[in-house]
Amino acid sequence: MIADLENALGSAHVLTDPQLREGYERDWTGRFGAEAMCVARPADTAQVAAVVAACREHGAALVPQGGNTGLVGAGVPRGGEVLLSLARLDELGPVDPATAQVSAGAGVTMAALQEAAAAAGFEAGMDFAARDSATVGGLVACDGGGPRALAHGTARARVAGLEAVLADGTVVRRMHGLLKDNAGTPLPALLVGSEGTLGVITAVRWRLVPARRARVAALIPLETLEAAEPTLAVLRRELPSLEAADFFLDDGLSLVLEHLDRESPVAARAPAYLVLECAARSDPTEELAAGLEAAGIEDAVVADDTASRRRLWQFREAHTEAISARGVAHKMDVGVPLARLAEFITRVREVVEAAAPGARTILFGHLGDGNVHVNVLGPDPADEGVDVAVLELAAELGGTISAEHGVGVAKAAHLGLVRSAGEIDAMRAVKRALDPDGLLNPGAVLARVRD
Ligand code: MLT
Ligand code: ZN
Repeated sequence: MIADLENALGSAHVLTDPQLREGYERDWTGRFGAEAMCVARPADTAQVAAVVAACREHGAALVPQGGNTGLVGAGVPRGGEVLLSLARLDELGPVDPATAQVSAGAGVTMAALQEAAAAAGFEAGMDFAARDSATVGGLVACDGGGPRALAHGTARARVAGLEAVLADGTVVRRMHGLLKDNAGTPLPALLVGSEGTLGVITAVRWRLVPARRARVAALIPLETLEAAEPTLAVLRRELPSLEAADFFLDDGLSLVLEHLDRESPVAARAPAYLVLECAARSDPTEELAAGLEAAGIEDAVVADDTASRRRLWQFREAHTEAISARGVAHKMDVGVPLARLAEFITRVREVVEAAAPGARTILFGHLGDGNVHVNVLGPDPADEGVDVAVLELAAELGGTISAEHGVGVAKAAHLGLVRSAGEIDAMRAVKRALDPDGLLNPGAVLARVRD
């Protein structure tokens, strides 16, 4: 197996030394990971196909990995698989201004994509804190979102086509970028969000959005999140330029301030904070002011130049690192209908306390999408009690157990909370048809069926 891989990739790109493998084997949270048989680092699609073919011939399972920024264990080994790193597939084509599209290899980072888009007068239509490491292949494979999904949708909405290697080594390619092409079952659509279980994404035809360089952000202290739904209803109607509406709570802010060694952005602290960003071709500051007034919001810290906007967003984006610096967190990425959000936020603390007395719960997320990141510090990383309690609550309130991080291995056993037996059977049938030997990312999304 190793000799075949070395023949295909060159021995420098088949890592068997435990020290060289190490960085690929553990996920960002520190909660998931195991030893890989080896790390294979193909340079292009043909080499990816060769790795898949070798795995098939030797009956070896493989786990695809992009920038290893995933949070649900989908991109790290469970034990003994070939870790297929797509990082070297980092070719970025020219931006086509007529279609507003660009072709990106799976290993292109979000930051590189954003830079190329900006140089051509466009934007990627997506952004998040892990931009410097997260790769296009990985974020399409898990249908990533981030704060700007409010305006531009999740990765699915940005994909005009893709290229992938299927489990039998076949390369399927739909990179022409035709927006209208409904000739049969759309394989690219099937692969988006399949987390490497149906095929290995090697390239993506990405849809850009026109650059909206006039931007203004606002940090708004709130006495309660009870009014989140009616407030958002006003803001969405009054602010056509609204691109993001995130939130965090005061205990999270304290953690971030300590972590970044910064002063509070607001003199009078509040229980909750909203972070808004408006983007337009001409200055949206007046529109924002009018929108805030219509929503009855009187107090806001406004940032209208790039540096101050970035500083303001840091209070929200730095939550992930500030929490991680305190220990291995249980990270539940749930979505709840906006009408049930306030109820969720109250009850989630109660269910966490019942499942893990004394645990610390930090909540933040993308308010506009009803996407709450529930982070719990305290319980043993292997103890799933608190995860189950939070996921069950989200499901009970009509929400989802995975909004943007994916199912991975973290939530595979709990898919039945939000998908019917019929749906899971259909998912298993698709998996069996495309990967009959179960070699692609086994145990992710669909739990292994025990004999
Ligand atoms: C975020 O919104 O910052 C990301 O989803 C990462 C996280 O949830 O920690
Ligand atoms: Zn998020």
